[in-house]
Amino acid sequence: MALRRGKSKFELKSAAQFGHMREAGLVVAEALAQVRRAVAPGVTTLELDAIAESCIRGAGATPSFLGYHGYPASICVSVNDEVVHGIPGSRILTEGDLVSIDCGAIVNGWHGDAAISVPVGQLDPAIERLSEVTRNALWAGLRAVVDGARLGDVGAAVEASIRSADYPYGIVVDYVGHGIGSSMHMAPNVPNIGKAGSGPKLETGMALAIEPMVTLGSADVDVLGDDWTVVTADGLTAAHWEHTIALTEEGPIVTTAAEDER
Ligand code: MF3
Ligand code: CO
Repeated sequence: MALRRGKSKFELKSAAQFGHMREAGLVVAEALAQVRRAVAPGVTTLELDAIAESCIRGAGATPSFLGYHGYPASICVSVNDEVVHGIPGSRILTEGDLVSIDCGAIVNGWHGDAAISVPVGQLDPAIERLSEVTRNALWAGLRAVVDGARLGDVGAAVEASIRSADYPYGIVVDYVGHGIGSSMHMAPNVPNIGKAGSGPKLETGMALAIEPMVTLGSADVDVLGDDWTVVTADGLTAAHWEHTIALTEEGPIVTTAAEDER
């Protein structure tokens, strides 16, 4: 199908541009895989940042977070009640923590953005389940990204997936997914709730970052005094999973998924 370039409200990517986005996505996947393997009791969050940065730079890519609106690191590390945008530092991970790692990279000007939640040792089963529900919701959202679907279908799929779980989880609405391509954050916003059949049509050439943030309690969040770290207002644990998905001429491709994921 021909791209309706110029008529869209959104940035539509060529096959070559999607190629760069896939390269960036694979760099993000590898950086997250290396960080996941390094997560253990006694490790500091700054050590995880160093691993990600050297992986990204070693691949010839650029960390997109570093310097973004003054952000001081290459990844976000959000532990337990921290939802997103936790700044790596001297904090030492301990058994039972749930650590959300968010990472972005740029190849030839094109972006990939993904996040995973990683257990430190043995988790409380309720927290393990929270992370699983969040990851399943991400994939429900990804499956809704097809040519001709509507943006509201994505949020509706994410929301329905979470609501169908066996527990009244909180769905964070103050932060959302986003269009992505030549910038990390572009139109449209991609909420984690929605009404099926509503909103603009998804079309070949678009790319979205889908990123459900789910909590064990209230969905209310606060921002800490560092002006970055987003925490749950009630102090309960949150999980965060994210992928970038491209609507290519050959169909949807999760650019930040390793070849063996899916
Ligand atoms: N990757 C985050 C997102 O998913 C943004 C991180 S903000 C930064 O939208 F400043 F840390 F880069
Ligand atoms: Co994102």
